[in-house]
Amino acid sequence: MASLGVSGVLLGFTVLVLLTSPAYSLTCSSQTFASNQRYELCNDLPQLSSYLHWTYNSTNSSMSIAFVAPPAKSDGWISWALNPTGTGMLGSQALIAFKDAKGSMTVNTYNVSSYSSIVQSKLSFDVWGMTADSSDGVMRIFAQLAVPNKSTTVNQVWQVGSSVTDGHPVKHDFQSANLNSKGTLDLTKGESTSVSGGDSRVKKKNVHGILNAVSWGILFPIGAIIARYLRTFQSADPAWFYLHVSCQLSAYVIGVAGWATGLKLGSESKGITYTGHRNLGIALFCLATVQIFALFLRPKKEHKLRFYWNFYHHGVGYAILILGIINVFKGLDILDPEKKWKSAYIVVLAVLGGIALLLEAVTWVVVLRRKSDKSTKPYDGFNNGQDRQQPLSI
Ligand code: HEM
Ligand SMILES: *[C@@H]1O[C@H](CO)[C@@H](O)[C@H](O)[C@H]1NC(C)=O
Ligand SMILES: *[C@@H]1O[C@H](CO)[C@@H](O)[C@H](O)[C@H]1NC(C)=O
Ligand SMILES: *[C@@H]1O[C@H](CO)[C@@H](O)[C@H](O)[C@H]1NC(C)=O
Ligand SMILES: *[C@@H]1O[C@H](CO)[C@@H](O)[C@H](O)[C@H]1NC(C)=O
Repeated sequence: MASLGVSGVLLGFTVLVLLTSPAYSLTCSSQTFASNQRYELCNDLPQLSSYLHWTYNSTNSSMSIAFVAPPAKSDGWISWALNPTGTGMLGSQALIAFKDAKGSMTVNTYNVSSYSSIVQSKLSFDVWGMTADSSDGVMRIFAQLAVPNKSTTVNQVWQVGSSVTDGHPVKHDFQSANLNSKGTLDLTKGESTSVSGGDSRVKKKNVHGILNAVSWGILFPIGAIIARYLRTFQSADPAWFYLHVSCQLSAYVIGVAGWATGLKLGSESKGITYTGHRNLGIALFCLATVQIFALFLRPKKEHKLRFYWNFYHHGVGYAILILGIINVFKGLDILDPEKKWKSAYIVVLAVLGGIALLLEAVTWVVVLRRKSDKSTKPYDGFNNGQDRQQPLSI
């Protein structure tokens, strides 16, 4: 019951922090432009922390775009391209933006037809109104173009590089993010940036993040700490057990709610699946459900099978602990490219870890002292419950 209070406070605190911080989530639907230019749709591109905003006019098959990406180095370049003849770099009709010799942002067009070098040239479709700017570590390309083949699904390619020599962009890295920065774009579907639509999706992502971080990332570890350390203190028996159970039960309830919002988000997101994050989430749900059922199938303390039950319960418990924390980090990487929330969560983990270390030390002292007491006063042994003497078997 006390832990329900604790979880309530934690939840309230996290919600408060998230809602009062101005740039609480940098997904495309919350991005705005200095020029107050608005675009109907946007996508968080799956690689290179890049974003595409666009408005598609189906009447004359034209589109107006804004591409936002952090260059690999501040004097580097960013590029966005349509590829009317293929899916990767070769054949791309690219817009590349960088700082020119005088230090002002320029955009040029390139017909990319070779992996060894690229040549500035006209594109195979019309482009106009090209501009670029740069601030806060990102560069932005603005342009309008006539969509080739008048199709509504196009192949897009994007890239970032670290340097430009004599007005020529120098080759990009070949990390997996650089080799996978391509995909199809459905011009009629994306995240809506209209105030209500965009905001509601950002809110859903934040609610999903908060519920899961509090449950898997904070409450489960606290419950494990309670089970491992409070039971050493005879005065805490059986209070530790009820605390542990109510902590893990509320973590489970919050976690299942978070899991459900995750499934909903996944089914709504267009064209982007975070496979690792999703599979870990499903595995966590299964493990936690098994763990809750195990509570009801628990053999009595004196029962022969209790040893095996303990072994299994602790094993699954630690698996949930580790996978949960990993998945919170995976989620934070998706939700928040800014790394701010990651640092906040690392601080929370460090505090919990510190507390656990301290309690580990205290436990050892208590147990060793109890052992030595016992050797000098043999009769005292009757008062000590067996499993309280072996904190390491928890
Ligand atoms: C500046 C000159 C450039 C050079 C010298 C260059 C060179 C290369 C090379 C050698 C590869 C193959 C790497 C591998 O398979 O191991 C590659 C892949 C790639 N490049 Fe570039 N690149 C340049 C510019 C660009 C631009 C402007 C874009 C964006 C429009 C781009 C997007 C890609 C993508 C998405 C891949 C991986 C997919 C594919 O192989 O098509 N590159 N690049
Ligand atoms: C789309 O293009 C047509 C033709 O130029 C124009 O009449 C129409 O107003 C445009 N629609 C929007 C929403 O800009
Ligand atoms: C299509 O319509 C837009 C919006 O009215 C206009 O800016 C653009 O020039 C038109 N594109 C073409 C290819 O005519
Ligand atoms: C689009 O048009 C180009 C010629 O402009 C052609 O080579 C290409 O195959 C077409 N792509 C599709 C998907 O129809
Ligand atoms: C782009 O380069 C390819 C290969 O050199 C060439 O066949 C094609 O005509 C060029 N396209 C444009 C629009 O210059």
